[in-house]
Amino acid sequence: MTGKRTSGHKPGKSSGGSKPAAGTGGERSGLPAGQIADTGLMRGLQNYGDPDFSAYMRRAFVRSMGYSLDEMSRPVIGIANTYSRFNPCHRHFPELVEAVKRGVSAAGGLPLEFPTISVHESTMQPNSMKFRNLMALDTEEMVRAQPMDAVVMLGACDKTVPAQLMGAASAGKPAIELIGGPQMTGRWRDHRVGACTDCRKFWNEYRAGKLSRPEIEEAEGRLVTTAGSCAVMGTASTMAAIAESLGMTLPGTAAIPAVHADRIRAAEASGAAAVRLARSGLTPDRIITQKSVENATRVLLALGGSTNGVIHLAAIAGRLGLKLDLERFNELSDTTPLLAAVKPVGTEFYMEDFYAAGGIGAIMRELKPLLHLDCMTVTGETLGERLSAEESAYVDRRVIRPLADPFEPQGGLVALFGSLAPAGCIIKRSAATPALFEKTGRAVVFSSIADMGARVDSPDLDVTADDFIVLQNAGPRSEAGMPEAGFLPIPKKLLAQGVRDMVRISDCRMSGTAYGTIVLHVAPEAAVGGPLGLVRSGDRIKLSVSERRLDLLVDDAELARRRAELAKAPSPADASGARGYDKLFRTTVMQAPDGCDFDFCR
Ligand code: FES
Repeated sequence: MTGKRTSGHKPGKSSGGSKPAAGTGGERSGLPAGQIADTGLMRGLQNYGDPDFSAYMRRAFVRSMGYSLDEMSRPVIGIANTYSRFNPCHRHFPELVEAVKRGVSAAGGLPLEFPTISVHESTMQPNSMKFRNLMALDTEEMVRAQPMDAVVMLGACDKTVPAQLMGAASAGKPAIELIGGPQMTGRWRDHRVGACTDCRKFWNEYRAGKLSRPEIEEAEGRLVTTAGSCAVMGTASTMAAIAESLGMTLPGTAAIPAVHADRIRAAEASGAAAVRLARSGLTPDRIITQKSVENATRVLLALGGSTNGVIHLAAIAGRLGLKLDLERFNELSDTTPLLAAVKPVGTEFYMEDFYAAGGIGAIMRELKPLLHLDCMTVTGETLGERLSAEESAYVDRRVIRPLADPFEPQGGLVALFGSLAPAGCIIKRSAATPALFEKTGRAVVFSSIADMGARVDSPDLDVTADDFIVLQNAGPRSEAGMPEAGFLPIPKKLLAQGVRDMVRISDCRMSGTAYGTIVLHVAPEAAVGGPLGLVRSGDRIKLSVSERRLDLLVDDAELARRRAELAKAPSPADASGARGYDKLFRTTVMQAPDGCDFDFCR
């Protein structure tokens, strides 16, 4: 029997308090001598060929940190801390981590903080998306490899929450996402401002000559004035909403502003909930299901959330063998009204208004007839139980409309298919110009981001407001690695004429804070031979949002000729000169409809 492993925590059984229970191993766990509990700090012992020695060694090192035997006997709650001075959106995390620890300790657990990589939107080269999968791998392996019974994951900036949910889904241990929360708005002159819809608006005005250099520099210092993620319904807030609607956060916590006292209370409550979760053994695969993915999709659509949410949700679902099918996505979009008007949808409201208006709970209560209410959440309650308990909660109807009187009858996002995007693409119709939805235009093509940068503002560029701007070779397997470059700049000469929107098409992504009649995630991408790479300036392209179509109006013989010509040139997806993580990414990343996850992680 020496060294026999056994599982100590039973669902619903308390092992906290002063009584030593599972976790210290052998005689200290209450188990027969020589029997080691496979829980708490004794989880996943190193294999020296002598389990008792492994337990003894682990205890020796843990004791070196000053923990008492009582503390060492408690359920271990890992706290994945993504604080980094390279991540301004997470600068308040130390305070949140302390609150999580308080909650864990008060509930009888042992909080053990650990770092994982942290990914911020504006500090990663070539772009943050390239490192989401690395962060997911880091999270998965650290949660799996280290001796914890449950984990609280702190995320906020765009890629961090999806990366953590992907990692947790694969690691298979009980997990709670603690959202860092959005920034509060600031003021610039007579404008109320928040990153980063207003960043883009001011930059457009500057490019159009409406703001001077000193003015744009002054605005720059006013756009981001508190800790937290972007102040609008960008990707970070969308992913927070998705995490809550999947059931992976505590109820009502996704939209709390970063600097609000409620955020600290949510952190403490998440720590306590993680101890209960460790005891119940409720793992993410029982929370993230095909039904909860559909619930999250409906919330994404009702919010007019970020287009990036479609990619990230597909990646999270894919980790559990589930699919976010784009045809089904359109069915859900057609039957899910747009209920919230938070920038970039609408012109007035920010995340702090959305939280005060009722937050994700208010949206889900409106969507109740359309949701799968039997889905489980991290609290151990079903979604239906959660929503029933909130029925009398306040809702500000200026920000969140009732199901019977929505802002729009259909969801904010829609997938398009056609000869230019056989595997699909996405348009955010709620942040686009309806007058451009049914249109045939002449293509003005840029073959890469560098080509676009070099020519888009040239006075000689042959372009009118009726043209469609097309960017190629910016998808996941291109050298660019699918950046948020899809908010293609409107040529300066058109800006000067007062043009503020036109049809723009690419295989890259755009920030959730961006807006316009912009078609994204065209799949397959140009770099792997998708039809987008065959478009030439002067071609006609037909966009029909009502028919869900995007078609290249060029005959097959001409396309075959172009394809043969392209085959002779070096492929933009050629990763033979790459090494390390770059090579791993470029050779294994999947297309947007599969969430751009690594093919070996599904
Ligand atoms: Fe972090 Fe926008 S830059 S959420």
